[in-house]
Amino acid sequence: MIYISPSLLAADYKNLESDVKRIEEAGANYLHLDIMDGHFVPNISFGADLVASLRPVTKLIFDVHLMITDPEKYIPDFIKAGADIITFHYEAVDDPAKLLKYLREHEIRAGISISPDTPADVLFPLIEEELIDMVLVMTVHPGFGGQKLIPDTLDKVRAIRRFAKARGIDLQIEVDGGIKPENVGYCTSAGANVIVAGTAIFGAKKPNAVIKSMREAARNHPFYEI
Ligand code: DX5
Ligand code: ZN
Repeated sequence: MIYISPSLLAADYKNLESDVKRIEEAGANYLHLDIMDGHFVPNISFGADLVASLRPVTKLIFDVHLMITDPEKYIPDFIKAGADIITFHYEAVDDPAKLLKYLREHEIRAGISISPDTPADVLFPLIEEELIDMVLVMTVHPGFGGQKLIPDTLDKVRAIRRFAKARGIDLQIEVDGGIKPENVGYCTSAGANVIVAGTAIFGAKKPNAVIKSMREAARNHPFYEI
């Protein structure tokens, strides 16, 4: 199953409620909420209060992506705000296993992300211990929407999918940054099954057509190994 997670970062901020409803009706599965602190990344977005105020307007699964320093300090706020999945950055913590366990203890799906310069194998022990529900492989340097996908990052998606599959571990692999219908097939054939897209979906006149063509590309380019 392919999950489409449009990123709110590219929404129309003066019409957030109607914009979120528009992409829900267009067939999205998740709502990707990019939290940036101006420290871990050179940009500031929004915080837990905004997430909480959107919670009653949609049934979409809230996929919170924390691009922040000291995520452990703020995670309780995002749990209270109604997050379903919380992803923090491997680069931002000293003890990822502890935080992954904490998320699951609070009935939150546990996600961990690696930026383009971080190798895939740092996650292997955590995957092997089955502490992760979702790996987010950044396909751009985090901080801004509207960038171009870095193709080499997809090698990491493939390595992670192979590693998990060889051990019979069912893992969601999310890709984020520069994704559009034309390159979704590269992502899914590498093993990704959660697709984030900001500009491509929120920026579209007909988001349902974009989501449909993304699903079609995913169907035509499944992960496959002999
Ligand atoms: C980048 C964010 C992305 C971003 C994607 O730091 O994590 O989620 O919003 O935007 P597009 O799809 O426009 O590249
Ligand atoms: Zn993101």
